[in-house]
Amino acid sequence: MFNNHSELEAALLNCKQCALAHDPHNGPTSYNGTPESMLAVVGEGPGRVEDEYGVPLVGPSGQLLDKALASVGITRDLIYTTNIVKCRPKGNRTPTIEEGQICANRWLDHELTLVRPKLIIALGSVALKYLDHANARITKDRGKWFATKYGIPALATYHPAYLLRLTGKELVKAKWEVFYDLKAVVDKLAELAPGLCLKSDPPPNLLELYEARRQKRMNA
Ligand code: URA
Repeated sequence: MFNNHSELEAALLNCKQCALAHDPHNGPTSYNGTPESMLAVVGEGPGRVEDEYGVPLVGPSGQLLDKALASVGITRDLIYTTNIVKCRPKGNRTPTIEEGQICANRWLDHELTLVRPKLIIALGSVALKYLDHANARITKDRGKWFATKYGIPALATYHPAYLLRLTGKELVKAKWEVFYDLKAVVDKLAELAPGLCLKSDPPPNLLELYEARRQKRMNA
């Protein structure tokens, strides 16, 4: 269907094919990072900041994700980050399973088929339910490897937005769980691709990188 990733992105940025595309927002968001990466991170869907910048996970959740990834030696420029749904649902609500399926069948499936990462991280419940199965539960199933329909192993961990809502001991526990989940991914990648480095120095400033796109979207 798409010969390469640029073709896919151009079509995606013009998508108006489902009900979500008609909620008020600044247009579909695409991906960030490296389309040739061995690791893909799949989030839920854009929030306000992502909707402005046109790329996933650059707002408060994305900044917490950056810190968590840095703790296991990963920077966002060397992985591929995307979302289950590409348009911001009205009122910032969680997309339904059906909305996730419609959008991800149309876009995410093609993205992952072109990118062919070795491993996938599912961030939170919406990504877990799409990539594994609708009855999966993030509290029970995080930290466990599962097979995806792409033939690529995946592991789910808590969404950073969930961590941002926790405090005290619950927060400390959840942060360690995320750390060990990410560590499991890094260890498996080291087995699959010995010597692979997914860390650049200095780390990228994603907001600076996508500022021109933000200006264009906000002035459209
Ligand atoms: N949460 C997500 O899952 N993705 C984003 O892009 C922003 C917040």
